[in-house]
Amino acid sequence: MSFKTSFSQILEEISKMMKCFHIFKDKSSRSGREARSAPELRDHNKSKTNSSSRPTKSAGSSSSTPRSIPEMYREKAHNLVAFSLSELREATNNFNKLLKIGVGGFGSVYKGKIRPPDGKGDHVIVAIKKLNIYGLQGHKEWVAEVQFLGVVEHPNLVKLLGYCAVDGERRIQRILVYEYLPNKSLEDHLFNRNVPAIPWRTRLNIILGAAQGMAYLHEGLEVQVIYRDFKSSNVLLDKDFNPKLSDFGLAREGPAGDRSHVSTAPVGTYGYAAPEYVSEGHLSTRSDIYSFGVVLYEILTGRRALERDRPPMQQKLIEWVKQFPADSMKFTMIIDPRLRNQYSLNAARRIAKLADRCLNKNARERPTITQVVEVLQQAIQDSEDASPSDTRDAEASTSRSSRVMTNNQFKKMGINTTTRQTSHAAQA
Ligand SMILES: Nc1ncnc2c1ncn2[C@@H]1O[C@H](COP(=O)(O)OP(=O)(O)OP(=O)(O)O)[C@@H](O)[C@H]1O
Ligand SMILES: [Mg+2]
Repeated sequence: MSFKTSFSQILEEISKMMKCFHIFKDKSSRSGREARSAPELRDHNKSKTNSSSRPTKSAGSSSSTPRSIPEMYREKAHNLVAFSLSELREATNNFNKLLKIGVGGFGSVYKGKIRPPDGKGDHVIVAIKKLNIYGLQGHKEWVAEVQFLGVVEHPNLVKLLGYCAVDGERRIQRILVYEYLPNKSLEDHLFNRNVPAIPWRTRLNIILGAAQGMAYLHEGLEVQVIYRDFKSSNVLLDKDFNPKLSDFGLAREGPAGDRSHVSTAPVGTYGYAAPEYVSEGHLSTRSDIYSFGVVLYEILTGRRALERDRPPMQQKLIEWVKQFPADSMKFTMIIDPRLRNQYSLNAARRIAKLADRCLNKNARERPTITQVVEVLQQAIQDSEDASPSDTRDAEASTSRSSRVMTNNQFKKMGINTTTRQTSHAAQA
């Protein structure tokens, strides 16, 4: 027999489990039960800083004392639908493998059909993520995702429609229901050869939209939100290739008062995490900016942050690109061959310089997300203004470099000298 679980039950369960396990990397600072409808993150929002003196952010509230995410969630919880397991079984033909559209670190994602909330009209297509809950971490991230996505509202953030929580005698179910985004992720378009490569301007629009989504998280809410998992696989694309950040299981509130960071044991994805976060556990919005810099180079080069099947010197993207500075002649050699020289060189150099600033070892020296947005807007302007010579420059300098370097020299630098086939462009 199984029964539907309320959030307050889930929280209680997490709280009990916390007494027995030490697998949480963060430590709890909050105390007291929350209202029944709010999935409280006792542990998740813990920082070594004092959360009661959190700074007020620009938009969203007239109150001088900013509320925490769980407090904000309580106000908005009613917007989410609590689905029954049978509804979601029906929606996915009993989680049929043929409807599986993706698998991530926390479970499988299915395409499904649900009845519209008012029961009228056509079915709504949704994405249903069924979590593999093997430990406390899974619970914690599920609750975080519901709370953060229940509160945020922005065109560049994925929309959570509802959730399902069921505890059975044999196993528990934790499921999330999102708006369906039909164009896969940025990762798929950059690295999967079976998915069409995206043209230059679309890449810029995607990264600008992603930056705007992050700007909302960093600066547009009552509380500062650190996303903590920025990577190309978490940038989903809608039918018009507009980007939406997904996966808020690792998100957390920013530091209190004038503290520069929160301290936590690092979790996230290798290759994207900032050095001070990996080594010291210092987490701040500037850690997100570092990850953003990595993705900027992924967009320029069409290479993954980490490619273990390459020679050691080429495995880490940000180490490899250092050999090709933005202002040097050889810079064009790192540009994604799938772009077939269809890009603005001025814009590409601007973006590489921006990425270098984002990747600064000193977190304080990195730009803010607002500054990132501004530079990306300038890069888009460069691309719009691009004279044919800007694009021809790119081709010319590549061939100039080619004349003075042998194939072996190219190979040493990790450049593929064979021409790769370019898939047809996704859209202009
Ligand atoms: N709302 C959605 N609409 C359409 N497809 C989605 C949606 N959410 C996820 N997917 C698909 O499912 C895939 C897996 O997503 P998921 O977030 O579980 O894993 P991931 O991002 O690849 O890895 P990680 O677990 O490290 O975040 C995505 O790459 C995407 O193709
Ligand atoms: Mg993901």
